[in-house]
Amino acid sequence: MPDLFSPFTLKGVTLRNRIVMSPMTMYNSVDGKLDDYHVSYLGARAAGGFALVFGEQMAITPDGRTTTSCAGIWSDDQIEGHARVCAIIERMGGVPAIQLGHTGRKGSELPPHKGTNAEGTWKQLPPDHPDGWTCVAPSAIPYGGGGHVYPVHALTVEEIAALHRSYADAARRALDAGYKWLEMHYAHGYLGASFLSPIANQRTDQYGGSLENRVRFHLEALDAVRAVWPEEYPLTMRLGADDLNPKGTQFEDAVTAIGMMKAHGLDLADVSLGFNTDEMVDPPFNEVAFMISRAKRVRDAVGLPVATSWNLGVPQNADRVIREELIDLVFLGRPALANPHWPIWAARELAHPDPFHLVQPDWAWWLRNFRGHGPSIGWPEAREVSELTWAAQ
Ligand SMILES: Cc1cc2nc3c(=O)[nH]c(=O)nc-3n(C[C@H](O)[C@H](O)[C@H](O)COP(=O)(O)O)c2cc1C
Repeated sequence: MPDLFSPFTLKGVTLRNRIVMSPMTMYNSVDGKLDDYHVSYLGARAAGGFALVFGEQMAITPDGRTTTSCAGIWSDDQIEGHARVCAIIERMGGVPAIQLGHTGRKGSELPPHKGTNAEGTWKQLPPDHPDGWTCVAPSAIPYGGGGHVYPVHALTVEEIAALHRSYADAARRALDAGYKWLEMHYAHGYLGASFLSPIANQRTDQYGGSLENRVRFHLEALDAVRAVWPEEYPLTMRLGADDLNPKGTQFEDAVTAIGMMKAHGLDLADVSLGFNTDEMVDPPFNEVAFMISRAKRVRDAVGLPVATSWNLGVPQNADRVIREELIDLVFLGRPALANPHWPIWAARELAHPDPFHLVQPDWAWWLRNFRGHGPSIGWPEAREVSELTWAAQ
């Protein structure tokens, strides 16, 4: 029976445990490049024991970013920054992973820490703003929620083909940089998610209408990437599998779509939500582990390894979903932001016999053999806190 600290092998890549740093947009790039900020931040998570480390959604074209401060991989001069990030993650024992994406009708935004809309969420900038642009989408329908009201451009068939070439070019650059795991971002209301959702995709050509047509964009992008991405490296995707709206993406359709993607070379499904509309029925965002049952359903129905994120940051829960073989990998977003050493902390919390197996061998030797301060190294135990209180009296 596997647990949170069991290795996991997919194709030619072995992860040292089941803990993944989930992709998170950082709004800290100039010209879409990665620099010391990303080397330090992502290297720290690899040093903290995360087995697979994602940076953020990397835009395949400049207008595929969320904001002009977001990162990308649309140009060869961006490879160097990615290569530095890959090198530090590997040096710290992790596997470097890239998420390729295009924000579609959810681009042209202001970074949320620089201002939000009246509802307190993401603020879109008009196309004539110096940091704004006209967004693209399957149909000329703005997202609508959260002030995303500016006109969007419906992609032509030729423009879709050009985007698929951009996916392939980005994958080739990712390989050159040293990534060993590639995830397509087809979730969260971005371009892939919106092609699947009948709310966003109202095309009448071969990319709209039936489920087979609505998943064509994804299959063609997978084919384009698989043609340049080596067989021994995993090709995965994060799917917006449910819009939580009767008019949007329906979960059982998403399960069928993932089955089609498997036939096009998909190695693992990272199951998430659609976010193609703000009008969601009973959004479960405060519930613990709320995507687990959907991910397990994909695992059983499609026969692929699965992963998911969302409220899995309590170590006992993260361990349990692996032990019960509900999912194969645990993605952590906010917990990874808050605690770069989450895996080591979790190992302590779960009474792992050797939590320091997760750190570099040189540090591990000292931490195991030079323990003058007792077991309190890193995170004090309650007993020691009370002793300290007593000593101070
Ligand atoms: C600051 C921030 C940025 C995010 N950016 C991305 C992203 O670029 N790509 C993506 O697929 N998900 C993104 N997410 C979602 C996370 O990867 C994750 O799925 C989500 O936060 C739920 O996991 P959690 O409950 O562990 O935080 C982001 C989340 C946060 C908090």
